[in-house]
Amino acid sequence: ETVEWDPEQAGKGEYDHFMLKEINEQPTSLAQAIEGRIDPANGRIALSDFEPGTFEGIDSVQFVACGTSYHAALYGSLTLNQAGVRSSALLANEYSVSAPPVDDETLVIAVTQSGETADTLNALRQANAEGAQTLTVTNVVGSTAAREADDALFIRAGPEIGVAATKTFSSQAVMLTLLGQRIASDQRGEPRADTESLLAELASMPGAIADVLDDSDAAAIARRYADSQAYFFIGRGLGFPVALEGALKFKEITYEHAEGFASGELKHGPLALVTPETPVFAIFTGEEDEKTLKNAEEAQTRGAPVIAVCPDDHPAVEAADDHLEIADTDQDLAGLLANVQLQLVSYYAADLLDRPIDKPRNLAKSVTVE
Ligand code: G6P
Repeated sequence: ETVEWDPEQAGKGEYDHFMLKEINEQPTSLAQAIEGRIDPANGRIALSDFEPGTFEGIDSVQFVACGTSYHAALYGSLTLNQAGVRSSALLANEYSVSAPPVDDETLVIAVTQSGETADTLNALRQANAEGAQTLTVTNVVGSTAAREADDALFIRAGPEIGVAATKTFSSQAVMLTLLGQRIASDQRGEPRADTESLLAELASMPGAIADVLDDSDAAAIARRYADSQAYFFIGRGLGFPVALEGALKFKEITYEHAEGFASGELKHGPLALVTPETPVFAIFTGEEDEKTLKNAEEAQTRGAPVIAVCPDDHPAVEAADDHLEIADTDQDLAGLLANVQLQLVSYYAADLLDRPIDKPRNLAKSVTVE
């Protein structure tokens, strides 16, 4: 008798899918990303690739990216704006027709897991040609983006096989948050006052993600709402890119209709879609949560069940129909924990529908055509 050796199954280890394996790898991949790059005891960001003062002369930052990387870029851009640095996140495939002007004081950051996405490479090339400073935040050493950008910052997430990006989003968002703090402190000449506490919270993120993974109600929630018509995700501030990413993940692997909105935008149109058959996942990051709660309650009034993604002692827990718990952390990081809960909801929802989770129809891991 011969034992069948299936290399693909072997790669997945104890998991049914690479996606679930990669979701579960996040405590490790995130620890790898920040290893040696933060020094919480001294309140220092130790990005050794960039000497202190590297970003002194940067006047504004433009992020270019696609798909999940675009959501990480938006996350990074919002943290930069909140830190007082002019920045915007742009879809790389729109860059050639609508890029804001650049000069040698503009830093263009291409965010790309693979480093090979054609749309993102085109935007990077345009920025290089127009004389901007360029940098890529990527997972792949030796990728085209890493070779063509002036500088590269590697997220060290390890290979990601599932077409739907999971662990790389978390590492991108964290590295962009760190990089953003460095850019802001180079500009100001000093780090933000609470850098020490941000770094301490960051150091505890791998553990906080492990807690989410160990004790998530995502599978039960996916089952409870399995027969819905559409799935909506709302968030404010850094919760907004997480809402977009929650919806993207959901549609990619379940093939169900899912949309993400800025919480406050729900009432400006999307509310017309809200019914008892459209659950609303509301993400609370500590940024004007009371307003997001009001927006969620407006959906609830129309009969939509609301699933609050927030800490246990949050007022939204009482108000909502269901709850996905995250630890109480820095508002720069809360969205990342919420995102892990939403990754799990998407995964279990797709599993119930028996979708080919690691290889959704019509999608490719890396899109090398325009
Ligand atoms: C494809 C993948 C997405 C990914 C996007 C950007 O569309 O299906 O999951 O987010 O490309 O990929 P990149 O490698 O540039 O991050």
